[in-house]
Amino acid sequence: MSTVITNIGELVTNEPGAGEGPLGLRRDAAVVIDGDRIAWTGPAADAPAADEAFDAGGRAVLPGFVDSHAHLVFAGERAEEFAARMSGRPYAAGGIRTTVEHTRAASDEALRANLRRLVDEMARQGVTTVECKSGYGLTVEQEERAVRLAAEIADEVTYLGAHVVPAEYEDDPSGYVRLAATDMLAACAPHARWVDVFCERGAFDADQAREVLEAGKKAGLTPRVHANQLTEGPGVRLAVELDAASADHCTFLSDADVDALASSQTVATLLPGVEFSTRQPYPDARRLLDAGATVALATDCNPGSCYSSSIAFGIAIAVRDMRMTPDEAVWAATAGGARALRRTDVGHLAPGARADVQVLDAPSRLHLAYRPGVPLTAAVWKAGSRVKG
Ligand code: NIG
Ligand code: FE
Repeated sequence: MSTVITNIGELVTNEPGAGEGPLGLRRDAAVVIDGDRIAWTGPAADAPAADEAFDAGGRAVLPGFVDSHAHLVFAGERAEEFAARMSGRPYAAGGIRTTVEHTRAASDEALRANLRRLVDEMARQGVTTVECKSGYGLTVEQEERAVRLAAEIADEVTYLGAHVVPAEYEDDPSGYVRLAATDMLAACAPHARWVDVFCERGAFDADQAREVLEAGKKAGLTPRVHANQLTEGPGVRLAVELDAASADHCTFLSDADVDALASSQTVATLLPGVEFSTRQPYPDARRLLDAGATVALATDCNPGSCYSSSIAFGIAIAVRDMRMTPDEAVWAATAGGARALRRTDVGHLAPGARADVQVLDAPSRLHLAYRPGVPLTAAVWKAGSRVKG
């Protein structure tokens, strides 16, 4: 089954050679989807025939968003904690334990339904690749369950046994780190591609994080790190040292952290919804971009630090308050997310890429930042299947 998308007002390819600027922008373009792949992009006048046509009505067409950071296997919510933060209480890693309690008590069916609900919510907003972490189970059985359920529904699965030290290990954090680096890892590794650690005051220090990440590497997983969210800690430098795919948050960075990211393959993944929801200062994307680092934008959707599945909301914040241009922000939420997941088949529109395409209810990608809070997703294909519109 093939589909030709015609009457495109503006096409974002993220292929610099295929059009104008880093987004590879084209006007008067068409796109052909064949099965689960992009078969062709080019001038509308030259478009090959297809089984069906979709008239984009002069609207903008982009690659599907790549949300490279989310925590979707959980039960319950923490709205009261959010309300307290808005009255001045600071965000603290300890709140994670509340969700751990709810998650442990939930059935597989309940967790699956919540995960499906959130992935569908994202898809309706143009997200076609979702990364999902464990980290609210924190026992061997519960973490294994979390990555197994995540693997049923999400595109990319991350083992985050080292999210916080659970209450029952309060007096023996080293024992918990050992467990996370041995039996828990062994149970989870078959279901995951990535290993992540929350390297932060109140969670795990650099030595503890290194123990888990190195063990994860030996088990065949690739590191990604929750780094420098609440303090200018060691997380970013550890991520770079271990050749992590991504250092996520990057809110408090020293000059040495910025330089380390800029001279590495490690993507700086910024999560603006977190700073919005925790009243922390926003990370300075411009400083990273000017230094030459690769920047991705993601949601971090989770019930604690940011219960938003809207990556477009993150784009708007990044443009308004993090000194990104609208084009840099759109790139970061598509091609940047793909880089953070070391994926070459998503985040761009070119022959051979996965057919992940979104049509905006707007004439231009600029409207994503220009019309914040407005649902602008008109149609979405994921791997060639129409999931909306
Ligand atoms: O990425 N920072 C650590 N983990 C999540 C928050 C989890 C929670 O508060 O439940 C984050 O912000
Ligand atoms: Fe996170």
